[in-house]
Amino acid sequence: MASVVAVPSVRSSREDRVPRQQLIAAVDVGTTKACALLGEVTEAGTVVILGAGLCPSRGMRRGAVVNMAATTDCIATAVAELEQLCDRHVRSAYVSIAGRQIQSQNSRGVTALHGNGYLVQGEDVQRAVAAAQALAVPADRRVIHVEPRRYWIDGVDGIQDPRGMAGQRLEVEAHVVTGAVNPMQNLIHCVEKTGVKAEQLVLQPLASGEAITTESERQLGVAVVDIGGGTTDLAIYLDGTVWYTKVLPMGGRNVTNDIAIGLNVPFGVAERLKLTYGHAIPEAVEGLEPVEVPGFEAGWLQEVPQEFLAEIIEARMEEILGTVSRELRDIGCHGLLGGGVVLTGGVSDQRGLRELAADVLEMPVRKGQPHRVEGLSERLMAPTFATGLGLLVWGSRRNPHPSRHYVAPRHRVMRSGPWMRRVLRFLRAFLP
Ligand SMILES: Nc1ncnc2c1ncn2[C@@H]1O[C@H](COP(=O)(O)OP(=O)(O)OP(=O)(O)O)[C@@H](O)[C@H]1O
Ligand SMILES: [Mg+2]
Repeated sequence: MASVVAVPSVRSSREDRVPRQQLIAAVDVGTTKACALLGEVTEAGTVVILGAGLCPSRGMRRGAVVNMAATTDCIATAVAELEQLCDRHVRSAYVSIAGRQIQSQNSRGVTALHGNGYLVQGEDVQRAVAAAQALAVPADRRVIHVEPRRYWIDGVDGIQDPRGMAGQRLEVEAHVVTGAVNPMQNLIHCVEKTGVKAEQLVLQPLASGEAITTESERQLGVAVVDIGGGTTDLAIYLDGTVWYTKVLPMGGRNVTNDIAIGLNVPFGVAERLKLTYGHAIPEAVEGLEPVEVPGFEAGWLQEVPQEFLAEIIEARMEEILGTVSRELRDIGCHGLLGGGVVLTGGVSDQRGLRELAADVLEMPVRKGQPHRVEGLSERLMAPTFATGLGLLVWGSRRNPHPSRHYVAPRHRVMRSGPWMRRVLRFLRAFLP
């Protein structure tokens, strides 16, 4: 499976057929922004970032597409910016997915082996995994991921990789992530209308987890909590495998909304206030100067104590973190996460949030830093890019030789961006 294709813009036709770099692209379609990233996979398996394009989202709500045209325009703008910057054409990319339509469950599958002395082959593992997947999926849903998490051979537990082992009966427990067909189709359409093939959909917390946790943390047990604008995404790793995933429909936009309602100010003003003066712990801003805030009417100003602003933020963050804590307890892994909790997503930049999270979750909490990626500018170190970077790492690990496509000079590619679509709409009006 080839994953990307980003290509130098002008080459001779012979050169065009020679893959030169192992290039890989990603499109993260979030509730507040879409970003497109391009990276080069090195011999050592790391990803060197070549560039990024960004566009504020307009057509997404809580991780799902609610306006096809607006989402397509936004993706097209991010991809066009990336292409311009790197002077490459992106033909296909790993694409992130989240939203309420995502469900995940653990499911078991069994397969019989061929008698005494038989050594388990790759196909036997695939058969067992397929059986686990078949049990889990209703007709109106499609499988996004099947991540094997435990194996048994002849009833013996704790097997990490059954290949090459002797046995008569192979059993697997897999974490199966599914999405409702129609919302998935909407996202794929939005991406593919921009001329970029959606190579694979990757669940957002699993992408973020690839970028910000290490192999040894995943072995020890770690929870990734990605708090974005519209969703809070959870991925739990134990014994090196994916144990649990969940997408909760709440995030930074709820905080901004609360501020807008609480202070009776426009959403944009509330967002700026949150970013400039926000804190998740009211005691930390006690006694600081109040801030002047413009309201809906021109010239109208009100003074807001910073402590009051922090109380609004704290209340919503406690609700979000409390829900995460209940999830961890409900699945019984609260005491098993030796690696603690790793926070990411734009909201993880909220001042005081790490301390509040440690308090609510009763676990060590750290902010995630990207691993296995090089060439990051300070801008791309921001947690809002964790999912996009993770998509590149995900792709590079599962498909280390992605550049199978040949060059398509950039000047020959007609991308259906917002401007192009407006021209096409205009021309169509003259057709019979
Ligand atoms: N310094 C900060 N303090 C508080 N909140 C912040 C800060 N920086 C960014 N945010 C919030 O982070 C959110 C955006 O995060 P992110 O870019 O991870 O979301 P997204 O990927 O677009 O959405 P999602 O993944 O939920 O679909 C916004 O709500 C923004 O207000
Ligand atoms: Mg996100």
